[in-house]
Amino acid sequence: MTTGDGDWQRDLVRELTDGPLSGGGAPQSADPEPQTEARPGGQSEARPEVRPEVWSERGSKASDSPQTRDPRIPAPTPSSPAPVPETLPTIDPRLAMALGRPRHGDSTARRAGAGLRRLTASAGREVAEQTRYAEELQQPVTTGRVVAVTSIRGGVGKSTVSALLGRTLNHYRQDPVLTLEADAALGTLPVRMGAESVRWSAGDLARILTPAMQLTDVTGYLVPVADGGWLLPAGQGRVGAPLDVATYRTVTLALRRYFAVTVVDCETLPGEVARTAMDTAHARVVVAPMTAEGVHGTRQVLDWLASLPHSALASTVVALSAATPDATLDAEAAVAHLREPGVTVVALPYDRHLAQGGPIHTAKLARDTRDAAVRLAAEVMRRAVRVR
Ligand SMILES: Nc1ncnc2c1ncn2[C@@H]1O[C@H](COP(=O)(O)OP(=O)(O)OP(=O)(O)O)[C@@H](O)[C@H]1O
Ligand SMILES: [Mg+2]
Repeated sequence: MTTGDGDWQRDLVRELTDGPLSGGGAPQSADPEPQTEARPGGQSEARPEVRPEVWSERGSKASDSPQTRDPRIPAPTPSSPAPVPETLPTIDPRLAMALGRPRHGDSTARRAGAGLRRLTASAGREVAEQTRYAEELQQPVTTGRVVAVTSIRGGVGKSTVSALLGRTLNHYRQDPVLTLEADAALGTLPVRMGAESVRWSAGDLARILTPAMQLTDVTGYLVPVADGGWLLPAGQGRVGAPLDVATYRTVTLALRRYFAVTVVDCETLPGEVARTAMDTAHARVVVAPMTAEGVHGTRQVLDWLASLPHSALASTVVALSAATPDATLDAEAAVAHLREPGVTVVALPYDRHLAQGGPIHTAKLARDTRDAAVRLAAEVMRRAVRVR
C-alpha cells in the first residue's frame, strides 16, 4: 500500500518495518534525488540492517537485553520501529531566493592588490608557513579525533567556525571528516554547510547505529557536503526536544570509528551537552566575540577549562571572531588578555561573505579568512593528535 504522496521510500520502509525483524529506517541517500555525489564510499542504496545491538555510551557494544541496555537509549525493537523522519528544507525556499547572490569577502580592489602582494619578498615565508600548516592538517590519526566548538554565548560564530573547520579539514585530508551539530536550538550549521534539506538527526542515529555497520551504511544517513565531507544535523530545524548527553555520547562514540575527525558544533556554555563535549573532546575551540564583555566571558571559560583534571587548556584554541566591521575593541589587547592563561588565539577577521549568512562558499571567502581558517584548523589538529 502506498501513501499516495509520492514518497516511495517511506512506503517501502513502512512495508519493511511491518516485518518481524525490522526496526530501523531508510538511509538519507535513498532519496530519489541525492543532493550530491557521495564520498568516499558512496551512498548506501540498501537499507542498513538494524541488529538487536546498540552502542552503549560507555564505549562498548551492548546487548539489547533489558538487563544490559542503557535505559536512556530507546532500542530499535520490532514493537517500536525507529520512525522515518521526513526530508525537510533547511531554509524556506522563498527566503533562499531572497538571500541574493553570494558576495566575495574581499573587495575587487583588494583582490587585485593581493595578487601583487603575493609576488613580493614575503611570498617565500608564506609558502613555508602554508606547507607547515598543510603537514599539521594531514597528520595521520590512529583513532577518530573529536573537536568541540563552543562559546560563552549565542550568535558569536560557533556554527560559522565549525563549518570553516569541517571544510578546511576535509579539503586537506584524504580520510572522512564529519561535521556534527550538537545544538538542537534551531542551529544554522546545515545552512552554513550548504545542505538544502535534512532528514536524519543525531537522535535518530543514536537509535540506529550498530557496531556491524559499514561506513557506507552510516553515510547513507548523513548529508553529503558539496565540497566533500559529511554532515549530521541535530534536528530538522524545528522547535523540538534538545539533544541530551546520552545521545551525544552514543553518537560521537559510534561515529569515531568511521571518521578521522569529527567537528562538533556545540550549544553555548554552560549547557550540559556543551560541557560534556568540551570535557570529552580531543581538542577544543572557544569562539570569542570581539567585544570587551565577550572576551571577558571567554576568559571565564578558559579558567574553567584550566580547572578540569586533564589539562583541557593545553588542547584549546580560541577563535577571536569579528562578526561586525564596527568592532572598536583593540585586537592586540583582546588577544593578550585571552593568551594570559596560556592558550593560542587565532583571529578570524570580519568577512563580508560570512556576514551575509546562508551557505558558505569557500571560493568567496576573503583571503585573510581562508588563511585564518587554515591556521585555526592546523592548531586544532596539532592538539587533537597529541592527545591519546
Ligand atoms: N567572521 C565573520 N565575519 C562576518 N560575519 C560573521 C563572522 N562570523 C559570524 N558572522 C555572522 O554572525 C552570524 C552568527 O554566526 P553563527 O550562526 O555562526 O553563530 P553561532 O554562535 O553558531 O550562533 P547560535 O548560538 O545561534 O548557534 C552569522 O550569520 C554571520 O552573519
Ligand atoms: Mg550555531
